[in-house]
Amino acid sequence: MLNINFNPFPVLETERLILRNVAHTDVQQMFEIRSNATTMQYIPRPLAKTIDDALGVINMMRGFTERNERINWAITEKGKDILMGVIGYPNIRPESHRGEVGYVMHHNYLRKGYASEALQAALDYGFDVMKLHSIEAIIQPPNTASVNLIEKAGFVREAYFKDYTYHNGQYLDQLVYSLIR
Ligand SMILES: CC(C)(COP(=O)(O)OP(=O)(O)OC[C@H]1O[C@@H](n2cnc3c(N)ncnc32)[C@H](O)[C@@H]1OP(=O)(O)O)[C@@H](O)C(=O)NCCC(=O)NCCS
Repeated sequence: MLNINFNPFPVLETERLILRNVAHTDVQQMFEIRSNATTMQYIPRPLAKTIDDALGVINMMRGFTERNERINWAITEKGKDILMGVIGYPNIRPESHRGEVGYVMHHNYLRKGYASEALQAALDYGFDVMKLHSIEAIIQPPNTASVNLIEKAGFVREAYFKDYTYHNGQYLDQLVYSLIR
């Protein structure tokens, strides 16, 4: 049986990280992520222009989690409690026991292995606690960092969809990767 219940919020711990709920106090870090055009290059979401936009993102994430529809974890370093990135399941299809994993790191914390470490914890939670059967990742082909990260985690490239997403006046190709339990 599937177990999609994020109340109380499932805090996850890894060797170096604590993954906790995103909070209003993360707004500055969230703004720096969401307003950075390089970071957001392959994430088809509007760029944040104001702190209020970032607060809106946090509120939206928390609302989805409260309603057990989606989950996002703030990636923090043990003992520091500063949001360094976000990882989660922005799309869950309970009827198919399938979830989509998504992730972003703040530009100050890249290439430290944090995304890999957080991804492993999110995957373990997805399979062991949520009892998903499969997890997918949808990635734009030129996003080498994301492709390498997901392949390192054992995901298999299953599809190349042409003009799959319409964003900012452009049709974007998307790769679909998946990992089956
Ligand atoms: C993708 C992303 C989350 C990776 O975060 P990270 O913390 O730097 O990743 P890690 O340090 O855990 O690296 C894991 C592996 O990913 C690959 N990788 C990460 N950044 C890379 C880069 N810039 N170029 C090529 N490979 C990269 C490497 O294989 C790396 O392993 P290695 O360091 O042992 O070689 C980060 O680049 C990011 O936030 N990108 C912008 C947001 C985004 O595109 N999200 C995904 C949307 S689908």
